[in-house]
Amino acid sequence: MPTTLITGASGGIGYELAKLFARDRHNLVLVARSADKLAQVATELQAHGVTVKTIALDLVAPPAPQFLFDQLQREGIVIDVLINNAGFGAFGEFAQMPEEEVLGQIDLNIRALTELTRLFLPAMVQRHSGRIMNVASTAAFQPGPLMAVYYATKAYVLSFSEAIANELRHSGVTVTCFCPGATHTDFAKRAGVENSRLFKQLGAMSAEKVAVDGYRAVMEGRTLAISGIHNWVVAQSSRFAPRKVVTAISRWVAEKVQ
Ligand SMILES: NC(=O)c1ccc[n+]([C@@H]2O[C@H](COP(=O)([O-])OP(=O)(O)OC[C@H]3O[C@@H](n4cnc5c(N)ncnc54)[C@H](OP(=O)(O)O)[C@@H]3O)[C@@H](O)[C@H]2O)c1
Repeated sequence: MPTTLITGASGGIGYELAKLFARDRHNLVLVARSADKLAQVATELQAHGVTVKTIALDLVAPPAPQFLFDQLQREGIVIDVLINNAGFGAFGEFAQMPEEEVLGQIDLNIRALTELTRLFLPAMVQRHSGRIMNVASTAAFQPGPLMAVYYATKAYVLSFSEAIANELRHSGVTVTCFCPGATHTDFAKRAGVENSRLFKQLGAMSAEKVAVDGYRAVMEGRTLAISGIHNWVVAQSSRFAPRKVVTAISRWVAEKVQ
């Protein structure tokens, strides 16, 4: 049975992805900070006859990816599929944003994702087999006033993933950059964007539906997948409009409404 490692699997998109992998009989390694929520997820998913190992870890802490890798090495657990899903956003003007929010987003969305990829990839290359999915966002396609750091971190994830997917094209290892648009999870609350035009007026997809798109994309080894046709259209249209216009629309979407 293959083993899939999912970060941010205690809720939201990561949890829905974990359900799909368990149903398809993948053993799981689930990572997030909340040990209690992970334990509940493990109990639920073990019903599919798979092994579910949970590791409660704050991936913002720089040594965390290496700690996770070392623990799995010691236990002889081989990772066939790596899903770098954990991430968070923070709303507000950059000049007023607290340091821990700024660096936390970079450390989780960029640093931990890159470090986990660096650690788990060589063994996949050696086996000529493996799948990595990095969860970016439709935020990756344009600058994001009022969420400047978050959007920039996701642009990094898109660029990094597409580049290494190309490097690995003959290796037997696939790298997928998965881009959800607004999705009903705890993300909006943590980011402070529940009252943004995007979430209040433009509508969000369900995490179940988004996870189905992500699951299909990673199993098909697609390099880039955008969840939802409307999100695909928006992402594509931003390529042709002037950057200033795209940035202004992006701000309008992020602004809070009554
Ligand atoms: N929801 C959206 O609208 C949306 C849109 C586009 C892209 N995305 C991306 O989708 C991914 C999943 O987000 P989501 O919407 O499912 O959000 P979510 O419901 O807030 O879930 C985030 C997951 O990451 C974990 N996590 C957060 N901080 C962590 C840390 N420091 N160390 C380890 N785990 C951590 C959380 O668990 P704990 O709190 O237990 O640690 C949780 O399991 C993120 O990369 C996000 O940027 C979301």
